[in-house]
Amino acid sequence: MLIDSHCHIYKEYYDDIDKVIKEANDKGVTKFINNGTDNKSNKEVLALINQYDNMYGALGIHPESVLEYSLSDIKFIEDNLSNPKVIAIGEIGLDYHYSKEEKDEQIKLFELQLSLAEKYHIPVIVHSRDATLDTINTLKKYHVKGVIHSFSGSIETAKEYIKMGFLLGVNGVITFKNANLKEVIKNVPLESLLLETDSPYLTPEPYRGTQNNPGHIFDIATFVANLFNISITDLSHICANNFNKLFLANNDK
Ligand code: NI
Repeated sequence: MLIDSHCHIYKEYYDDIDKVIKEANDKGVTKFINNGTDNKSNKEVLALINQYDNMYGALGIHPESVLEYSLSDIKFIEDNLSNPKVIAIGEIGLDYHYSKEEKDEQIKLFELQLSLAEKYHIPVIVHSRDATLDTINTLKKYHVKGVIHSFSGSIETAKEYIKMGFLLGVNGVITFKNANLKEVIKNVPLESLLLETDSPYLTPEPYRGTQNNPGHIFDIATFVANLFNISITDLSHICANNFNKLFLANNDK
Protein backbone atom coordinates (compact mmCIF):
# COMPACT_ATOMS: atom_id res chain seq x y z
CA MET A 1 0.00 0.00 0.00
CA LEU A 2 2.91 2.34 -0.54
CA ILE A 3 2.44 5.22 -2.97
CA ASP A 4 5.01 7.25 -4.89
CA SER A 5 3.26 10.62 -5.09
CA HIS A 6 5.97 12.19 -7.26
CA CYS A 7 8.19 10.61 -9.90
CA HIS A 8 9.32 11.21 -13.48
CA ILE A 9 9.12 7.90 -15.30
CA TYR A 10 10.13 8.70 -18.88
CA LYS A 11 11.88 6.59 -21.53
CA GLU A 12 14.70 9.10 -21.52
CA TYR A 13 15.62 7.88 -17.98
CA TYR A 14 14.47 4.25 -17.94
CA ASP A 15 15.13 1.73 -20.73
CA ASP A 16 12.69 -0.78 -19.30
CA ILE A 17 9.69 0.92 -17.67
CA ASP A 18 7.84 -2.42 -17.29
CA LYS A 19 10.67 -3.64 -15.11
CA VAL A 20 10.77 -0.45 -13.00
CA ILE A 21 7.02 -0.71 -12.32
CA LYS A 22 7.19 -4.44 -11.63
CA GLU A 23 10.10 -4.07 -9.19
CA ALA A 24 8.31 -1.26 -7.36
CA ASN A 25 5.15 -3.39 -7.13
CA ASP A 26 7.23 -6.21 -5.67
CA LYS A 27 8.35 -3.83 -2.90
CA GLY A 28 4.73 -2.94 -2.12
CA VAL A 29 4.58 0.31 -4.10
CA THR A 30 1.16 0.08 -5.70
CA LYS A 31 0.43 3.58 -7.03
CA PHE A 32 2.43 6.32 -8.70
CA ILE A 33 1.94 9.87 -9.89
CA ASN A 34 4.07 10.39 -12.94
CA ASN A 35 4.77 14.13 -13.25
CA GLY A 36 5.30 15.95 -16.53
CA THR A 37 7.61 18.95 -16.72
CA ASP A 38 7.17 20.18 -20.31
CA ASN A 39 5.03 19.47 -23.37
CA LYS A 40 7.07 16.46 -24.44
CA SER A 41 6.97 14.74 -21.02
CA ASN A 42 3.29 15.65 -20.55
CA LYS A 43 2.53 13.68 -23.73
CA GLU A 44 4.60 10.75 -22.51
CA VAL A 45 2.83 10.81 -19.12
CA LEU A 46 -0.53 10.59 -20.94
CA ALA A 47 0.64 7.59 -22.97
CA LEU A 48 2.01 5.79 -19.89
CA ILE A 49 -1.03 6.30 -17.63
CA ASN A 50 -3.06 4.74 -20.43
CA GLN A 51 -0.76 1.76 -20.35
CA TYR A 52 -0.37 1.18 -16.58
CA ASP A 53 -3.46 0.78 -14.40
CA ASN A 54 -1.76 1.88 -11.19
CA MET A 55 -0.09 4.96 -12.65
CA TYR A 56 -1.72 8.39 -12.41
CA GLY A 57 -0.56 11.50 -14.17
CA ALA A 58 0.15 15.13 -13.36
CA LEU A 59 0.55 17.53 -16.27
CA GLY A 60 2.47 20.75 -15.94
CA ILE A 61 5.21 23.05 -17.14
CA HIS A 62 8.13 23.16 -14.69
CA PRO A 63 9.68 26.59 -13.93
CA GLU A 64 12.93 25.43 -15.57
CA SER A 65 11.01 25.25 -18.87
CA VAL A 66 9.90 28.89 -18.55
CA LEU A 67 11.85 30.04 -21.61
CA GLU A 68 10.67 27.21 -23.91
CA TYR A 69 6.96 26.76 -23.29
CA SER A 70 4.22 28.18 -25.47
CA LEU A 71 0.59 28.97 -24.69
CA SER A 72 -0.45 25.97 -26.76
CA ASP A 73 1.34 23.78 -24.18
CA ILE A 74 -0.91 25.26 -21.49
CA LYS A 75 -3.94 24.68 -23.71
CA PHE A 76 -2.79 21.06 -24.14
CA ILE A 77 -2.78 20.63 -20.35
CA GLU A 78 -6.25 22.16 -20.07
CA ASP A 79 -7.59 19.91 -22.84
CA ASN A 80 -6.40 16.79 -21.03
CA LEU A 81 -7.61 17.58 -17.50
CA SER A 82 -10.81 15.65 -18.21
CA ASN A 83 -8.77 12.44 -18.52
CA PRO A 84 -9.88 10.42 -15.45
CA LYS A 85 -6.29 9.47 -14.64
CA VAL A 86 -4.91 13.00 -14.70
CA ILE A 87 -5.26 13.84 -11.02
CA ALA A 88 -3.10 16.96 -10.62
CA ILE A 89 -1.42 19.88 -12.32
CA GLY A 90 2.31 19.45 -11.79
CA GLU A 91 5.15 19.81 -11.66
CA ILE A 92 4.73 23.57 -11.46
CA GLY A 93 6.18 26.30 -9.29
CA LEU A 94 9.11 28.67 -8.84
CA ASP A 95 12.84 27.97 -8.92
CA TYR A 96 15.21 30.88 -8.34
CA HIS A 97 18.26 28.67 -7.80
CA TYR A 98 19.66 29.06 -11.32
CA SER A 99 17.32 31.50 -12.95
CA LYS A 100 16.45 34.48 -10.77
CA GLU A 101 16.40 36.70 -13.83
CA GLU A 102 13.21 35.06 -15.08
CA LYS A 103 11.25 35.69 -11.86
CA ASP A 104 8.39 37.55 -13.51
CA GLU A 105 8.04 35.00 -16.32
CA GLN A 106 8.11 32.16 -13.79
CA ILE A 107 5.37 33.74 -11.70
CA LYS A 108 3.31 34.30 -14.85
CA LEU A 109 3.69 30.63 -15.88
CA PHE A 110 2.88 29.47 -12.33
CA GLU A 111 -0.23 31.66 -12.22
CA LEU A 112 -1.47 30.45 -15.61
CA GLN A 113 -1.44 26.91 -14.26
CA LEU A 114 -2.83 27.83 -10.83
CA SER A 115 -5.82 29.44 -12.53
CA LEU A 116 -6.45 26.19 -14.41
CA ALA A 117 -6.28 24.28 -11.11
CA GLU A 118 -8.75 26.70 -9.56
CA LYS A 119 -11.08 26.58 -12.56
CA TYR A 120 -11.15 22.77 -12.78
CA HIS A 121 -10.86 22.03 -9.02
CA ILE A 122 -7.78 19.92 -9.48
CA PRO A 123 -4.87 19.79 -6.97
CA VAL A 124 -1.39 21.12 -7.73
CA ILE A 125 2.07 19.59 -7.23
CA VAL A 126 4.39 22.47 -6.39
CA HIS A 127 8.14 22.78 -6.86
CA SER A 128 9.67 25.64 -4.87
CA ARG A 129 13.40 26.22 -4.61
CA ASP A 130 14.92 29.38 -3.12
CA ALA A 131 11.54 30.99 -3.68
CA THR A 132 9.51 30.37 -0.50
CA LEU A 133 8.04 33.84 -0.07
CA ASP A 134 6.95 34.23 -3.70
CA THR A 135 5.55 30.69 -3.69
CA ILE A 136 3.42 31.37 -0.61
CA ASN A 137 2.24 34.75 -1.88
CA THR A 138 1.38 33.39 -5.32
CA LEU A 139 -0.46 30.34 -3.96
CA LYS A 140 -2.49 32.60 -1.64
CA LYS A 141 -4.00 34.37 -4.65
CA TYR A 142 -5.80 31.17 -5.73
CA HIS A 143 -8.25 28.75 -4.17
CA VAL A 144 -6.17 25.65 -4.69
CA LYS A 145 -4.96 22.72 -2.65
CA GLY A 146 -2.05 20.41 -3.26
CA VAL A 147 1.36 19.32 -2.11
CA ILE A 148 4.68 21.12 -1.71
CA HIS A 149 6.88 18.55 -3.37
CA SER A 150 10.36 17.87 -1.93
CA PHE A 151 9.69 20.10 1.05
CA SER A 152 12.92 21.19 2.71
CA GLY A 153 12.07 24.43 4.55
CA SER A 154 11.89 25.51 8.17
CA ILE A 155 9.24 24.50 10.69
CA GLU A 156 7.69 27.98 10.31
CA THR A 157 7.39 27.50 6.55
CA ALA A 158 5.97 23.99 7.08
CA LYS A 159 3.33 25.39 9.42
CA GLU A 160 2.42 28.14 6.97
CA TYR A 161 1.88 25.68 4.10
CA ILE A 162 -0.14 23.37 6.34
CA LYS A 163 -2.29 26.31 7.45
CA MET A 164 -2.93 27.00 3.74
CA GLY A 165 -4.19 23.42 3.39
CA PHE A 166 -1.12 22.00 1.67
CA LEU A 167 0.55 18.67 2.27
CA LEU A 168 4.35 18.30 2.37
CA GLY A 169 6.15 15.81 0.10
CA VAL A 170 9.02 13.93 1.77
CA ASN A 171 11.63 12.08 -0.28
CA GLY A 172 15.18 10.70 -0.07
CA VAL A 173 16.58 14.06 1.06
CA ILE A 174 15.41 13.22 4.58
CA THR A 175 17.86 10.29 4.66
CA PHE A 176 20.87 12.50 3.87
CA LYS A 177 23.36 12.87 6.72
CA ASN A 178 23.30 16.63 7.08
CA ALA A 179 19.55 17.02 6.72
CA ASN A 180 18.01 19.35 9.34
CA LEU A 181 14.87 18.27 7.63
CA LYS A 182 14.54 15.31 10.01
CA GLU A 183 13.93 17.67 12.94
CA VAL A 184 11.42 19.72 10.95
CA ILE A 185 9.45 16.74 9.63
CA LYS A 186 9.34 15.13 13.09
CA ASN A 187 7.31 18.13 14.21
CA VAL A 188 4.82 18.00 11.36
CA PRO A 189 1.55 16.09 11.84
CA LEU A 190 1.54 12.77 9.95
CA GLU A 191 -1.75 13.82 8.35
CA SER A 192 0.20 16.47 6.40
CA LEU A 193 2.77 14.15 4.81
CA LEU A 194 3.06 12.42 1.46
CA LEU A 195 5.91 10.12 0.46
CA GLU A 196 7.64 10.54 -2.90
CA THR A 197 10.86 9.54 -4.63
CA ASP A 198 11.25 12.27 -7.31
CA SER A 199 12.80 9.46 -9.40
CA PRO A 200 15.16 9.46 -11.21
CA TYR A 201 16.58 12.16 -8.87
CA LEU A 202 17.29 12.31 -5.11
CA THR A 203 18.15 8.65 -4.44
CA PRO A 204 17.91 7.93 -0.68
CA GLU A 205 20.77 6.70 1.50
CA PRO A 206 22.40 4.17 1.34
CA TYR A 207 21.84 4.04 -2.43
CA ARG A 208 23.11 7.52 -3.36
CA GLY A 209 25.14 7.46 -6.53
CA THR A 210 22.71 5.07 -8.26
CA GLN A 211 19.62 6.02 -10.23
CA ASN A 212 16.51 6.44 -8.11
CA ASN A 213 13.34 4.43 -8.77
CA PRO A 214 9.82 4.30 -7.22
CA GLY A 215 10.70 1.08 -5.34
CA HIS A 216 12.77 3.27 -3.00
CA ILE A 217 9.50 4.53 -1.47
CA PHE A 218 9.91 1.46 0.71
CA ASP A 219 13.27 2.76 2.01
CA ILE A 220 11.97 6.29 2.53
CA ALA A 221 8.89 4.94 4.35
CA THR A 222 11.10 2.79 6.59
CA PHE A 223 13.19 5.84 7.47
CA VAL A 224 10.18 8.08 8.18
CA ALA A 225 8.40 5.35 10.18
CA ASN A 226 11.51 5.05 12.40
CA LEU A 227 11.63 8.82 12.80
CA PHE A 228 8.05 8.82 14.12
CA ASN A 229 8.52 5.56 15.98
CA ILE A 230 5.54 3.92 14.28
CA SER A 231 5.27 0.84 12.06
CA ILE A 232 5.71 1.09 8.32
CA THR A 233 2.18 -0.35 7.99
CA ASP A 234 0.69 2.47 10.06
CA LEU A 235 2.68 5.08 8.16
CA SER A 236 1.66 3.72 4.77
CA HIS A 237 -2.02 3.70 5.84
CA ILE A 238 -1.85 7.31 6.99
CA CYS A 239 -0.03 8.45 3.82
CA ALA A 240 -2.41 6.49 1.56
CA ASN A 241 -5.27 8.18 3.33
CA ASN A 242 -3.67 11.61 2.83
CA PHE A 243 -3.13 10.76 -0.84
CA ASN A 244 -6.72 9.62 -1.39
CA LYS A 245 -8.14 12.67 0.38
CA LEU A 246 -6.10 15.11 -1.69
CA PHE A 247 -6.10 13.50 -5.12
CA LEU A 248 -9.02 11.09 -5.35
CA ALA A 249 -11.78 12.12 -2.94
CA ASN A 250 -13.39 15.11 -4.59
CA ASN A 251 -12.74 14.75 -8.25
CA ASP A 252 -14.79 11.66 -9.21
CA LYS A 253 -11.64 10.03 -10.53
NI1 NI B 1 10.10 16.37 -9.70
